[in-house]
Amino acid sequence: MPYKVAVLGAGAIAKSHFDAIAKSDSYSACAVADIHLPRAEAVASTYGIRAYQDYRELIVTERPDVVAIALPHFLHKDAAIFAAEHGCHLMLEKPMALNVAECDAIIEAVRKAGVRMLVGHTQHYIAENIQAKRILSSGELGELVMIHDARHLNYFQDSRPQWFLEKDKSGGGILANLGTHSIDKIQWLTDSAVHKVSASTTHFGRRGDVEGSGIIYLELASGIPATIVQSGYLGANRNETEIICTGGMLKLLTGSSLWISRGGPYEQVAPEPIASSFELQYADLLEAIQAQHDPSCTPEYARGVIVALEAVYRAAETGVEQFL
Ligand SMILES: NC(=O)c1ccc[n+]([C@@H]2O[C@H](COP(=O)([O-])OP(=O)(O)OC[C@H]3O[C@@H](n4cnc5c(N)ncnc54)[C@H](O)[C@@H]3O)[C@@H](O)[C@H]2O)c1
Repeated sequence: MPYKVAVLGAGAIAKSHFDAIAKSDSYSACAVADIHLPRAEAVASTYGIRAYQDYRELIVTERPDVVAIALPHFLHKDAAIFAAEHGCHLMLEKPMALNVAECDAIIEAVRKAGVRMLVGHTQHYIAENIQAKRILSSGELGELVMIHDARHLNYFQDSRPQWFLEKDKSGGGILANLGTHSIDKIQWLTDSAVHKVSASTTHFGRRGDVEGSGIIYLELASGIPATIVQSGYLGANRNETEIICTGGMLKLLTGSSLWISRGGPYEQVAPEPIASSFELQYADLLEAIQAQHDPSCTPEYARGVIVALEAVYRAAETGVEQFL
């Protein structure tokens, strides 16, 4: 029998979850919940499942084996704890929660209930990223020297739901939402955790109270330095990670392409074809449930991303370098 999955939140990312569930023989979608009921009903009719307005009622009534939490960040903690206490395994969207204290409460509930949790750090499951990590670990480009990660997009676009722009609901702006992807990508590519952080942010967004840009200088436990530069103001879109080694460089355009230089101009590298990132996340969780161990992206790893994010905000507020 496939594992029954319910998705909490019928917003932008819900479709990626349902499509991945539909592609797997080991899962079947059973229900969706959204406080905005017509949104839940529209998704439910597409996938032939039941719609709920109250996610707690869904969990109690449907008793899903797995709950995917695709809710605003301020709801991650309560939803994750309620689902874990009802015996559900968790596919929890990134970032894990608003702050480290909430991550601790989730981990405690997950461990107490004996359920498995995968926090959706998508970066680990994307073809170009996996190929870049493979090249780095092979040593063919020599020693890793530094990483520069740059992201630019209109973060304050009209279509962005308001909760993303209110710090008490989102935990922060572009850095909480997309900076966590970059922190995660850098840590995962290098197998090394953030150790030292300086940061500066600006708050010129035309709505909400979150930061609209950030520049982060960080050092990993391995000693490798990295910069993360993100702007959510108007301009040309960019999502580029440059990885500089002694014997060459990689330019990683996550989700799009990978480029290598061994001294000359960049040449494109074709990553090995793999399933979609969401399918791979669900496969990772499945393996963890069946083998009764943590998925490759452990709850403690996901907590570590929030530890680093909190340090970024502390560094930006105080102007003082933070050590983790
Ligand atoms: N992995 C990725 O690359 C990726 C991409 C996009 C979003 N995300 C993450 O997914 C999560 C959801 O993001 P999104 O873009 O889908 O947001 P969204 O605002 O589009 O969707 C959230 C949905 O939750 C619903 N909701 C709000 N309060 C609720 C409640 N109390 N009960 C039930 N439903 C409620 C809203 O009505 C909305 O439909 C966030 O954690 C976000 O960071 C991850």
